[in-house]
Amino acid sequence: MSDPLYDELLQLALEAADRAGRLLRDGRPADLGVAATKTSPIDVVTEMDIASEKLITGFLTEHRPHDGFLGEEGASVTGSSGVRWVIDPVDGTVNYLYGLPSWAVSIAAEKDGETVVGVVAAPMRGETYHAVLGGGAFNNGERVRHRPAPPLSQALVGTGFGYLTERRIGQAEVVRALVPQVRDIRRGGSAAIDLCDVACGRLDAYYERGLNPWDLAAGVLIAREAGALTGGRPGEPASQELTVAASPEVFGVLQPLLEELGAWHD
Ligand code: IPD
Ligand code: CA
Ligand code: CA
Repeated sequence: MSDPLYDELLQLALEAADRAGRLLRDGRPADLGVAATKTSPIDVVTEMDIASEKLITGFLTEHRPHDGFLGEEGASVTGSSGVRWVIDPVDGTVNYLYGLPSWAVSIAAEKDGETVVGVVAAPMRGETYHAVLGGGAFNNGERVRHRPAPPLSQALVGTGFGYLTERRIGQAEVVRALVPQVRDIRRGGSAAIDLCDVACGRLDAYYERGLNPWDLAAGVLIAREAGALTGGRPGEPASQELTVAASPEVFGVLQPLLEELGAWHD
């Protein structure tokens, strides 16, 4: 049975992601540069990240003035409705800056702290992924499922690297240990798209340490609703410490291996 609140949140998230996606795709200045840096000199923000977040929060506030917000570029509102929007206005900013196509707008809605709606729009792919809690996962309205699991040795595994040198050294060590044990590794540059690629059967698995709530909220719901398993360290939910998403059999092997390799610490 569909919940009218979830339906409303989904329609708003789809519309906001579509508008922001069009702004980013059609309004990208040819000479786009770095507007500021954040946690390190390679953690960049462009004027378009800021414009996208402004568009999304403006649109959502207009329709639901009492909701809370958490956005990567500074949106932080408590709200009084029990609904909070978790927004990454451009996931894959470095790709966007360089004119590479793998970037997305990621919008999740939480109700009383639980993610109930996730939308990831990837305009250069012409694809929008979405999920509502308990309702399955979709790509452009078509239902998607994770891939039938191969043995780990034939698994295609996505990952990503943080912006801090110390963290990257640890992440490189984990990849060094993993790459001889799997089919191959992909570093796409957008955590939200990586999670949706698990949902669509384009990756067998994805893991990363250091994700923020806006990177993972929508994509984790979409992967889970596509039948994939998601988590962090064994027994834990996906978090900043570690995020893992994979078809169930691959998850069962990869999660303990990542634990053993120390993928959850720097
Ligand atoms: C980043 C991307 C990248 C991941 C980083 C994220 P941003 O987000 O998702 O794939 O490896 O951990 O921070 O900075 O492009 O929004
Ligand atoms: Ca991000
Ligand atoms: Ca971002």
